Parts: sequence; structure tokens; C-alpha cells
Amino acid sequence: MQFFVYHYRIGEFGDIMEWKNSEFGEIGDQLVLPLFEGVEKPPNNSLSGLNRSQRTLVREAIASDDFEGKKGQRMAVWNPDCRVLLVGMGEKGEFGHGKARNIGARVMGALSKKKGLSVTVRFTSGWSSERMVDFAEGMMLRDYEFLEHQKVDDEHIAEPWSVVFQASARHQETLTEDLGRVHSVVGGVHLARDLGNEPANVLYPMEYARRAVEWAEGKDNVVVEVYDWDRLQELGMGGLINVGKGSDRKPCMVLFTLNPDADGGVQRPCIVGKGITFDTGGISIKPSKGMWDMKYDMCGAATVFGLMEALHATGYERRVNGITCIAENMPGAGAYRPGDVFETYSGKTIEVFSTDAEGRNVLADGLWKAGELDPEYIVDLATLTGAIVVALGNQITGMWANDEDIGKRVRKAANRSGEAVWRMPLNAQFRKYMTDSAFADIRNGSIGGGAGSSNTAASFLEFFVPHRGYDEDADKIPWVHLDIAGTAWGPGSKARSEGANPLFQFGVSGVHVRTLHRLVTEG
Ligand code: BES
Ligand code: MN
Ligand code: ZN
Repeated sequence: MQFFVYHYRIGEFGDIMEWKNSEFGEIGDQLVLPLFEGVEKPPNNSLSGLNRSQRTLVREAIASDDFEGKKGQRMAVWNPDCRVLLVGMGEKGEFGHGKARNIGARVMGALSKKKGLSVTVRFTSGWSSERMVDFAEGMMLRDYEFLEHQKVDDEHIAEPWSVVFQASARHQETLTEDLGRVHSVVGGVHLARDLGNEPANVLYPMEYARRAVEWAEGKDNVVVEVYDWDRLQELGMGGLINVGKGSDRKPCMVLFTLNPDADGGVQRPCIVGKGITFDTGGISIKPSKGMWDMKYDMCGAATVFGLMEALHATGYERRVNGITCIAENMPGAGAYRPGDVFETYSGKTIEVFSTDAEGRNVLADGLWKAGELDPEYIVDLATLTGAIVVALGNQITGMWANDEDIGKRVRKAANRSGEAVWRMPLNAQFRKYMTDSAFADIRNGSIGGGAGSSNTAASFLEFFVPHRGYDEDADKIPWVHLDIAGTAWGPGSKARSEGANPLFQFGVSGVHVRTLHRLVTEG
């Protein structure tokens, strides 16, 4: 029994690998054999398709002391017609999804297209179908480039990889289904990366909107609505207006609905994203050091867009909403200034402490808008504070929740996806730091200054999370805030060198597309 599935979109979001799964059979230009520690002879089926001399070479390599199967160990065995790559997976007993995914990614990073585009990955003894899919996911995630704006040398091979994942017959059905899903979700991750990696002169607010509208064209179960500059004025979305008015490139809100006709009267998730296409800080201008990174300040909105693509591509049939708050934060004659007081969509007023605390201002409108959809829960994603990078580094996202249940669900989905989150506090002290303004309902900076400033930022957002039905006597809508300032891109963000995270090589990670896909589709 053989299953052949192609999910391949050329040129749309970059060329993602072609894949299929099959039983053990023929091999391509390159054969990847992931093996566990202590391996001494080739497991059953691992050598099928190789000729006698190739078998001998591989058998001797596996038996030698040079390859022990330790985690991260790799050994290339050259043959006239096929390169064989032995990959050490470490101890079988300590083998989880993270290890499988990361090693898969590293293998992808080590393969060269010059040696042939067709790759066979052969899973033999000790592999469950779940771990195979994790390994494949790592490979797919790492298989990403962003070459939109540069000349590539003649040596560069643009055609996608074509990978066959081989395993025994009993795994085929699961593999076909799960690899198909993972491949589609990774397409969403790659879309989020493309959006994040675009420079701010190319991807400005209305260009994000244009891409969202273009994405929706021809899809009969998605609706994208754009609130442009005029509409923002009509609606009184003062957060977006004030942050965006200093730029010639005016702000907008982009609203996504997947399956608008499904789940009538049923509460469904709403995902909100910060989309500052460039954050100079505004009049409270940032120092030049560190400003470069601020082209990435729309990664929350990139993840929302990528999630919508992932859900759509996996054929998800239930309703999901996304709201993105898009603006460019610039200084200028028309810019808002420290001390300004303005009214937001909620009717609540904000006093501007710093024009650089702009993310929370635009999210105030997005969170309040979410209440109109009567969502089951709201998750927002934002590159909100530099302090969260100090607190948690580049591999853990800060998480705040006003509800235990949704907090646990997000954490579970994040952990299973290898996109760790760490719960941070919301409390009365942090609330007080923000709400004791003498001039407005809330202030966008804390009286505590930098003290706990990721937490005070979260408290500010909490202030704009609506009560169910906007009824003060009702509970607030369950809400989770994810501060992705540390995780949306890595320390290797400007270079081609690999950072600590093997799932992406440079630039933007596309963090939490997978977490949220899992949360929405699996609970
Ligand atoms: N986009 C930044 C946060 C940021 C900083 C993300 C560094 C990634 C790396 C945000 O708009 C900002 O400027 N936050 C200020 C808040 C302060 C003015 C209260 C910050 O973190 O310094
Ligand atoms: Mn800022
Ligand atoms: Zn910002």
C-alpha cells in the first residue's frame, strides 16, 4: 500500500518542500537514517534499495566506533549513487517531540541541494508515527528562505526539496494525514515569517491589509475586512489613530473571519495581534541601537495572518476570528506626543506617558472590538516590551491570563508545539501603577517606571478586555496575553548564522502559529 500526497504551492509563500510517505522502497539522491544510541547494526529495512557495496559501507559505518547514535551526531557515508546520512537521535528512552523536531530541523540545515533534491528519510525500529511527524515538522520548519529582495548566485537552487518519508505499512495512514496537516500548518508559519521579514518600507499598514484581502480572494470561507483611516475616524478608534497619525502611511485594522457561516450563536476564539510595521518610538524616539529590530514589531499580526492560513489550509471548518491592529509609529509634525490624552474605541481615555508604549494603545482598540464577537476567549500576541526579553530571553514567551482554564490550555498547546510560554503575574499593584493617572482613565506608562514593566503593560491590556456583553456585572471574557518580544525573532536575526533555535535560521520565527493552531483545533 502506498500513499502519495502532494501539497505544493509554488511561488505563493516561497517554495515549500514536496513530500510524500511510503513504505520502504526506492531511495533518492540522499538517504537520511535517524538511529538511536547504541545502534550496532542497521535496523530491519534500513538498507533496502541499496546495492551490495552500499550496504557494506553503511553497515561498517554503523558498526564502527565513529558512529554511536548519540544525540546530534551525524555521519555522512558517501556512495557513488547515493549519499547516506546517519543521524544520532540519542537514547530511545528519553525521546520526546522536542528532540525529534529539533534534530529534524538540524538535519534539514545540514543537507545541501547541490547533492540532489530527492531525499528519503527512513524511520525504522524505535520510531512511533507521532515522533516521525515531529521530525518531519522540524525539517519543514527549517526549510525556509526569504530571498525576495536580493540577487541570488547562479549556484542557488530554487526548486523545492522533494522528500519521501518511509516507514512500515502500519504507519502509512497516520503519516499521510498527519504529515499533510503539519505541512499545511508550516505553510502558515512560513507566511508569518515572510510578513515579518519584509522590511518596513515594503510592508506598511495598508500593504498588510492589501495582502490580507488578496489572500482572501478566491477562498469562499474567509472574509477579510479592512477599517481604513476614514473608517477608524468614524468608529473612534483613537488608539490606532493616535499611534498611526505621525506617519504618512496611515493605520488600519484588519479583521479576519474563517468560516463566517459556521457556529451561529456559538462562542468561538478570537486572536488579536499587534502590528506596528515600524516602531521608531515616535516623539519618545528610540536610540539608534536596537531600532533596527523594530521592523519586526508587527510579528503579532504576522502570526494572526499565518494562523488563518494554517487553519484554512488544514480545512478547519469552524469559525475563528482574527483582529490585527496595524500602524507605523513615527515622529512627525502630525504625531501624538507625551502628555496627550485621547479617547479609545472603548470610550476610555489614555494619557500618553511615552509614545513608545504604542503597542498597548493600538491593542486597546483591538481587544475592545473583540468583545463585539462575544468570543469564547481572546488571545493576543504582541512584541510588547523589551523587559520580557530581559526576563525570559529568546526561547520563552511571557504569558498572562485572567482565567486559569484558558491559561492552562494555551500552555499545554505551546509546550506540545515546542513554543514554550511562562506564566507571569497580573495583580492589583501592577493595575494601580497604570490606572492612577491624574488626567485620564489610564496611562500608557507606569508610575513604577521600568519595575515589572512587562507586567504593567499586561495590566494595561487587561483594562481593555471587555466584560461579557460589555456588562460590568458579568465576568471578563477569558483572555491570554502573549508577549513575544523575545521569541518572534532570535539573536541571529540579522545574520545567516544559526541561533539557539534550530527551527529557523535567521529573521522571524513565526512563533505561536503552531501553538494557536493546536489550541483552536484540539482544545
Ligand atoms: N516594540 C517595543 C518593545 C520591544 C523592545 C520589542 C525591544 C522587542 C525588543 C515596544 O513598543 C516598546 O517600545 N516598549 C517600551 C515600553 C516602555 C516605553 C514603557 C519598552 O519596552 O521599552
Ligand atoms: Mn514602542
Ligand atoms: Zn512597539
